Amino acid sequence: MTIERLREWVQSSNNTVILTGAGMSTESGIPDFRSASGWWNNIDPRTVATTDALTQNYSLFYEFYKIRIENLEKAAPHEGHKILADWEKRGKVLLVATQNVDGFHQLAGSQKVEELHGSIRSIRCHRCQQAASMDNFLNKVSCSHCGGKLRPNVVLFGEGLPQASWHKTMEAMKAAELVLVIGTSLEVYPVNQLPMMTRGKTVYINLDISQHATQFDITIEGKIKEVLQQLQV
Ligand code: OAD
Repeated sequence: MTIERLREWVQSSNNTVILTGAGMSTESGIPDFRSASGWWNNIDPRTVATTDALTQNYSLFYEFYKIRIENLEKAAPHEGHKILADWEKRGKVLLVATQNVDGFHQLAGSQKVEELHGSIRSIRCHRCQQAASMDNFLNKVSCSHCGGKLRPNVVLFGEGLPQASWHKTMEAMKAAELVLVIGTSLEVYPVNQLPMMTRGKTVYINLDISQHATQFDITIEGKIKEVLQQLQV
């Protein structure tokens, strides 16, 4: 069976790289982007997740991130996040590269994490880049340094990815023996290029695998928490 073959692969690899997307956190109660209940089914990303949105319609930009930050306060990593952290502790996982900004991999205990789309848990000034407090952002206060608009340290559409994280992830992908791609639609460039950069075995675990079925050595259609629980050894 596919799951047994994958369990063997996980067991025998000492250089596994994990790439996660928003589907990793839906079972923690955080919506993803492109599912029926995802953010982009209700809001046009151009109105909230771009630098234009930030500079031209700050109120809507602010409301969107405020809701997402407040959602995090009620949520926590689930068993699946913890299983990945456990694999790292046992020397099996060398890197978790994530598009998620929620910090759940680190909260679950993963230490080798690259946040390719930044973090929603820290704040800076969009103009002068000075760090600012979460309270100031949530209270809609301007930058104390230059009066600029405060924003979370996430990557907005139109912005580049954090270069050091991107390069580390590419190198890890190239060297990986096994790559598990988990809970991402693979719609967003350049992260969707990463699975093609490895010579290792590739696996895709997602609720809907139809778009990428032929691109991976193994595809598993299912809920992440259940699948990871079945793989836990
Ligand atoms: P998407 O919402 O595009 O994709 C999430 C995928 O996870 C979908 O294919 C779902 O079917 C799947 N999924 C959801 N819950 C699942 C579960 N419990 N088990 C298994 N699969 C599940 O999210 P991303 O691919 O992460 O960027 O989106 C990439 C980027 O687009 C985000 O980082 C964000 C967004 O716009 C920016 O805002 C820059």
